Amino acid sequence: MDSVRVFAPASVANVSCGYDVLGFAVHRPGDEVFMSLNSSGRVSLDMIEGDDGRLPREPEKNTVSAVVINYLKHIGVKQGIGIKLYKKMPFGSGLGSSAASAVGGLVGVNELMGSPLSRMQLLPFAMEGENLACGNAHADNVAPSLLGGMVLIRSYSPLDVITLPVPGSLCCGLVYPHVEVPTMAARQIIRTNVPMAAAIRQWGNVGGIVAGLFMNDTGLIGRSMEDFVVEPVRKMLIPHFDEMRSLALKNGALGFGISGSGPTVFALCTDKEIAVKVTVILENRLKDHGLESTCFVSDINTEGATFI
Ligand code: HSE
Repeated sequence: MDSVRVFAPASVANVSCGYDVLGFAVHRPGDEVFMSLNSSGRVSLDMIEGDDGRLPREPEKNTVSAVVINYLKHIGVKQGIGIKLYKKMPFGSGLGSSAASAVGGLVGVNELMGSPLSRMQLLPFAMEGENLACGNAHADNVAPSLLGGMVLIRSYSPLDVITLPVPGSLCCGLVYPHVEVPTMAARQIIRTNVPMAAAIRQWGNVGGIVAGLFMNDTGLIGRSMEDFVVEPVRKMLIPHFDEMRSLALKNGALGFGISGSGPTVFALCTDKEIAVKVTVILENRLKDHGLESTCFVSDINTEGATFI
């Protein structure tokens, strides 16, 4: 095999209460990465489509190629590879755009090299991509995009990552209001000390989501989707957040929150019909406020990155 094309999905990190420790993948949007072997002896980023020229073109600076360079160094192979990146999702949106690019690159190069590493073994390389993109090597976007499903990062050191079961009918509405929130800035505003009372409620909720997933108890999942630590600060960056939240819950969403570092918001619903209804209501309300948005509805993607 001398070329491969990979689809790497977007992801919803944090899932309200699980800052940096919970995330799930969706079916759309996502990035596509095409890679082919060549005899140049180096990794080149030959084309990026769909970014309006805004992403770095130097192979060492773009997550899609930087992770490939590190991977090849790690396995000790000097191989020429040309990469084409098709950005099919907005970046700076909270949908794990840089994570999807890194995952696409890694899954592609690993396949071209004969799959010496498992998906789990690719995870630390993908996390380094996040470090490059926003200065922190968190895994709650890259792990779901790579492994699929709902993922818990129980520990970063040592890395301990668990894929959780997901009730089949769960469906997610995503609304991306057209304002940009860079992840690095959205991380810097978070307070570093958490009052004990907030911490107690927060870890109760993380446990509640995990228990709800195992018990197939959507009510428990929904009432656990409350964030007492990050959302109260970050929601200030997202226009009409409180109004969207109450509209989503009033119209049947199980839970509502910020997708990753925002500004995309997500509504987790028991089925697709409710997710579509809630998404349209939120989109129209933002329009009433003079704000355009891009919306997606997807059930939870349990496969992660796939070959096209
Ligand atoms: N957990 C991360 C955050 C996800 O909320 O900053 C965004 O990359």
